[in-house]
Amino acid sequence: MNAKIAGVGYYVPENVFTNEDLTQYMDTSDEWIQERTGIKERRFATKHKETPTTMGAAAARIAIDRAGISPEDVDFIIFATLSPDYYFPGCGVLLQRELGITKTEIGALDVRNQCSGFIYGLSVADQFIRSGMYKNILLVGSEMHSMGLDFSTKGRGVSVIFGDGAGAVVLQPTEGEGILTTKLHSDGSYAEELALINFGSHGGYHDEVDYGYPDPKIPGGLFATEKMVTEGMMYPYMNGQKVFKKAVVKFVEVINEALGSTGLDKKDIDMMIPHQANLRISQFVQQSMGLPDEKIFNNIQKYGNTTAASIPIALCEAWEAGKIKSGDLVCLAAFGSGFTWGSALVRWN
Ligand code: UT7
Repeated sequence: MNAKIAGVGYYVPENVFTNEDLTQYMDTSDEWIQERTGIKERRFATKHKETPTTMGAAAARIAIDRAGISPEDVDFIIFATLSPDYYFPGCGVLLQRELGITKTEIGALDVRNQCSGFIYGLSVADQFIRSGMYKNILLVGSEMHSMGLDFSTKGRGVSVIFGDGAGAVVLQPTEGEGILTTKLHSDGSYAEELALINFGSHGGYHDEVDYGYPDPKIPGGLFATEKMVTEGMMYPYMNGQKVFKKAVVKFVEVINEALGSTGLDKKDIDMMIPHQANLRISQFVQQSMGLPDEKIFNNIQKYGNTTAASIPIALCEAWEAGKIKSGDLVCLAAFGSGFTWGSALVRWN
């Protein structure tokens, strides 16, 4: 049996944060942000009320309902995020609890592949359905970037592009075509080019910071030190230009790889949903693939870059707008931290 996307859902917080709002905290402008990224505004989670898990659950309830099942029917959860509620356990089990799933005949897996987390999760779900192991897999991508961004001028090269939100799909077996292929890639030599290394278990491997314990037999010590907080070492770092240059090449490469392996042509694509990293990246992909405007969907203008959530949010919005119909060939593609990248081709049911 192949796997199909049986239900889609998304949730974005009510709180709209415009480019103008950002100028209160950093030296930036609406003009700069729109020109370089296409972003006009993003959503930020409601303080003390929302987390990646609660937002993921809101998106999941819609996807579950549209798949014609109830939460208790879900037999496997895959949760992709880089901004989890807790360092551990991951959001998978938190989502199970949030959805009120009390049965324990269920697995919960956390995926840490940042911008390509949804594609990686989709690929894992596809294999589990094909093997017959699970019948109703809930795949969620959810992010709360607002929790960990540097809103001072020092952090403007990173902070202006990210937003909060969640998207979800339910995967089920189908006798139809469904997911035709998924392609996954990684290149760890770029690991620190887009990264949040603190707090982590490197124990000074990169920066030789003294993590606290004088006993050399205790190599690490503390996850978080005062130095990390005072020197802003707990914010993400991004070499924007390097990421950009690599992304535009790899997006096109991995889409063509998926098309080639299925014997399809770029002209067969009915809807392209790229990870919403930067509108200029999406436009480059569109031009390279020769896609007309109606065959590519972008919503980064409204939500910014929501990392693991961006593809399912865009997929759901496109579907709700009637831009994806039965029989359509939908192409998903992502590139991001790791570097990791991937693509998927889906024949919509
Ligand atoms: O989804 C995860 C993967 N991430 C991506 O795909 C992101 C890929 N990269 C990008 O989207 C772009 O590199 C950014 C939007 C992050 C940055 O755009 P850029 O055109 O690469 O700008 P830059 O970093 O080269 O900076 C150009 C100038 C610099 O000033 P100087 O040195 O030329 O005087 C920056 O200091 O723009 C300045 N700058 C800003 N100015 C106003 C950087 N950020 C800002 C800002 N507002 N927010």
